[in-house]
Amino acid sequence: MSTSSTAKRNISLDAAAADVEARYISANPKSKARFESAARSMPGGNTRTILHYDPFPVAIAKGEGARITDLDGHVYADYLGEYTAGLYGHSEPAIAEAIREALSGGLVLGGPNAYEARLAELMCERFPAVELVRFCNSGSEANLMCVGLARAATGRDAVMAFNGAYHGGFLSFTSGPSRVNAPFDFVMGDYNDPEGARRLITENAGRLAAVIVEPVLGAGGCIPADREFLAMLREETRRHGIVLVFDEVMTSRLAPGGMHGSLGLAPDLVSFGKYLGGGVTFGAFGGSRELMSRLDPTRKDGFTHSGTYNNNVLTMAAGIAGLEKVFTPDSAQRLNAGGDRLRQRLDAVIARHDVPMQLAGRGSMLCFHPQRKPIRRPADHAACPAAARKLLHLGLNLRGFYLARRGFMSLSLPLSEADHNALVTAFDDFLEDHAGVLAQLG
Ligand SMILES: Cc1ncc(COP(=O)(O)O)c(C=O)c1O
Repeated sequence: MSTSSTAKRNISLDAAAADVEARYISANPKSKARFESAARSMPGGNTRTILHYDPFPVAIAKGEGARITDLDGHVYADYLGEYTAGLYGHSEPAIAEAIREALSGGLVLGGPNAYEARLAELMCERFPAVELVRFCNSGSEANLMCVGLARAATGRDAVMAFNGAYHGGFLSFTSGPSRVNAPFDFVMGDYNDPEGARRLITENAGRLAAVIVEPVLGAGGCIPADREFLAMLREETRRHGIVLVFDEVMTSRLAPGGMHGSLGLAPDLVSFGKYLGGGVTFGAFGGSRELMSRLDPTRKDGFTHSGTYNNNVLTMAAGIAGLEKVFTPDSAQRLNAGGDRLRQRLDAVIARHDVPMQLAGRGSMLCFHPQRKPIRRPADHAACPAAARKLLHLGLNLRGFYLARRGFMSLSLPLSEADHNALVTAFDDFLEDHAGVLAQLG
């Protein structure tokens, strides 16, 4: 059912977005009050930039299964899935039980524990390029360690990354290199541009320590890399002794052996994060025995890798339960096949309304883009107006669906076929209301 009888009368995209925003504000007084009071002690009332959107974000009170409830009592089907970290949903029993059991054995033990070796073993079994693995506390840290290890091992300084990529808060290129990035010497290439990237690698071969790339650009718009592009990176980095890093912090969920397993490519290092900690703070990096064994503390020429909480028992136990009992290879196949089907159904709705809108992504990672122009690189969607993204985001929010402002969704295991049916219906209803103004996008 249409959420507003005025929606179809809007004559411009900005007017439609303002109309939806006004309804959002009046529906969320407690979230608004929380936002204002939080701003007294945190910049912008926020401790994680991505969670802010205007006019203010709904504050989440609790989660269960695939549902979250905000402070004003609205219940949403959670299609954000904590930017892929929430793969298990909010209350997976096997994970909750593993955390309770670990807790009963005490925290901050200050020594190696039984859990970490088991999680390492599971990850080495699961991901073909990972012969040895190390844990840390976030995907950002994992990528910094990959780059640090590459620089230490090669004795070179420069790092090649791709415009539009996000490898964490200190290696962010979503709108050009971030000013708070780690101060490496960066060489920037264009994603899915094999010839341009090959040329840059050849020109800079003598100074490049690493090339870092996401097999599907997550924050950059859910854009899958062409296999030929990644294969060329593999070939050229090998030729020049450069360490190839696949950032699989998001994408390792897309196939049983991650994207590198699915594509049959073996990067030198792979970074991980998000769901692999079962919903507890997590990061990891692994790869070839030759490179990773440089971190062996019994080696005289070994490099250091530190982190007080690297082997914290809550994360390790939750991660083990997730991989052993829940996210089996079969379950990975099912989740991602479900995502591909959902994308096709949403595409069919778009085709029926014939509006400027498309879905990018692969498997359980999806992203709406309000435009017709095909997207192969981040620059292809850079011109999409903020008002269109806001209209879609708040429009679906008011219909009970939680997703990112940029249109990003990641599926969790507890989402059901009935949830997907409801999302398709709500999206259809949204387009019914707004097809007229969206058509202005051309
Ligand atoms: C591809 C990618 N790499 C790295 C990171 C950073 O991970 P974390 O937020 O755990 O530091 C993210 C986070 O969204 C990511 O999407």
